[in-house]
This record gives sequence, C-alpha cells and structure tokens, in this order.
Amino acid sequence: MVDQIQHLENGELDKSNNYIIKAYNLYKIYNPDLPSMVTALDDVSFGIEKGKVIAIAGPSGSGKSTLLNILGCMDSATSGRAIIDGVDITKLSENELADIRKNKIGFIFQDFLLIPTLSALENVLLPLIPDGIKKADRERAMNILEQVGLAERASHKPKELSGGEKQRVAIARALINNPTIIYADEPTGNLDTTIGNEIIELLRNLSENTGVTVVIVSHDPMVWERTDLMLKLRDGKILNS
Ligand SMILES: Nc1ncnc2c1ncn2[C@@H]1O[C@H](COP(=O)(O)OP(=O)(O)OP(=O)(O)O)[C@@H](O)[C@H]1O
Ligand SMILES: [Mg+2]
Repeated sequence: MVDQIQHLENGELDKSNNYIIKAYNLYKIYNPDLPSMVTALDDVSFGIEKGKVIAIAGPSGSGKSTLLNILGCMDSATSGRAIIDGVDITKLSENELADIRKNKIGFIFQDFLLIPTLSALENVLLPLIPDGIKKADRERAMNILEQVGLAERASHKPKELSGGEKQRVAIARALINNPTIIYADEPTGNLDTTIGNEIIELLRNLSENTGVTVVIVSHDPMVWERTDLMLKLRDGKILNS
C-alpha cells in the first residue's frame, strides 16, 4: 500500500523546508452566488516533497483536475494559498503565472495534445518557439527524445506514432524547459495497461535521474502502486487514512 498524503494544518506545513508544493486552505468555488455553484476544492492543505512521484486519486468530480490546474498556474483558487518552489502563486499576475508555467512546470495530458502537422522533434521544441529556437535547443530536444526512447522517431508526425510513442513525445515536450515539477492529468487514460505502465515507469526514471517532482492524476490502481505517495480527494476534500 502506498502511503497517503494527509491534510496538514498550517503549523505542520511550515515545519519542513522540503516541500516543493505547499497548499494552504485552498478553496475553489465555481459559479459562486448562482444555483449552479460547485465547491470543487474545500479547504485543501498539504505538502509535496521535492523529487517525489505522487498520485492524485478520487472519484469523478472530486476536484482532481481543478487542483492540478491551480497548482499548474492555469487557474486561480477562490481563496487560500499555494507555494510552488518557494513562490506564492496565488498573488501573481497573469504574466507572472505564465513565467512560472514556462520556467518551472511541464504538463502532460490524457490526449497528448500534439500538433498534427509538426514532427516529434518540432512538437518537443514547441514551448521554446516564443524565445526563438537555437541549434543547441535542437540538440537538447534530440537528447530528450533519446531519453524517452524515441530518437528514431524524431521526424515522425503524430499520426505516424503509436499512442505510447505520442505520450513519450508529450513527456519530452514537458521536459524541454527543465521543469522542477511535471503535472500529468490521466496520462495513461488512452493507453492499454502495458503501455500505460511503461509511461509511468518512464516518469519514475526521469524523476530519479533529474530530481523532477511528478504529480499524476489517475484513476488507475496500477499507477497508484508505482508512485511514492497518494493524495485522495473526495468532494473537494483530502481523505485522510
Ligand atoms: N469551469 C467549471 N465551472 C463549473 N463547475 C466546474 C467547472 N470545472 C469543474 N467543475 C465542477 O467541479 C467539480 C470538480 O471538477 P474536476 O474537473 O476537478 O473533477 P475531477 O476530479 O478532475 O473529475 P474527473 O475524474 O471526471 O476528471 C465537478 O463537480 C465539476 O462539475
Ligand atoms: Mg479531471
């Protein structure tokens, strides 16, 4: 059984310097003041240590993607605070959030989100386009494709790749900015079990080799078994064991 991440009170959270992600009393309320109001996160407080591989689990609608989007600087909390690698992201402007996304965070999604007209290599380079792509970037992208076992597929377009290969390209793209954290929302949801396990193994190895922290939302017990710790959500709250 994988250990569970517990709901922590603020005092306990502040005791350790080792947390790369700290969430203090996070709330997310969609459509406040309307009959359709949803409390998607309800006083969520926890810490995630640097270099760990974490699973976030819970029934559909329990707030997993909402939490990931907030920790990934893609959405803001209604109240509470989140500290990512020492930076309080709840106080940042849109531009500052974009900088954190660019410099500290890599994302991986269930449906890969590759650009169909670009090769594997070009898809990996995509996050660097705004700053201009240099020769050294191409070499780095090739090295990363090699790390994920795809050096021979660099010139293939997404439609010429298998599902597992597409997800490897997406992982390589998530790594191109040297992130401190990778967030993955159901990364194995569109893959069969064997290939899904290979993807989780790859994320584990990358974490061991580079020290990157990996947070994986998943329904799959096979994924949970391969992570260091689990965060269980129910109705927007952390389920303590
Ligand atoms: N933009 C939104 N506006 C209103 N309600 C939303 C919005 N996004 C999510 N919700 C609601 O918030 C709750 C949490 O949604 P969330 O997407 O975080 O769940 P999840 O745990 O990721 O579920 P799943 O496993 O199905 O992906 C759900 O009840 C959902 O209907
Ligand atoms: Mg979701």
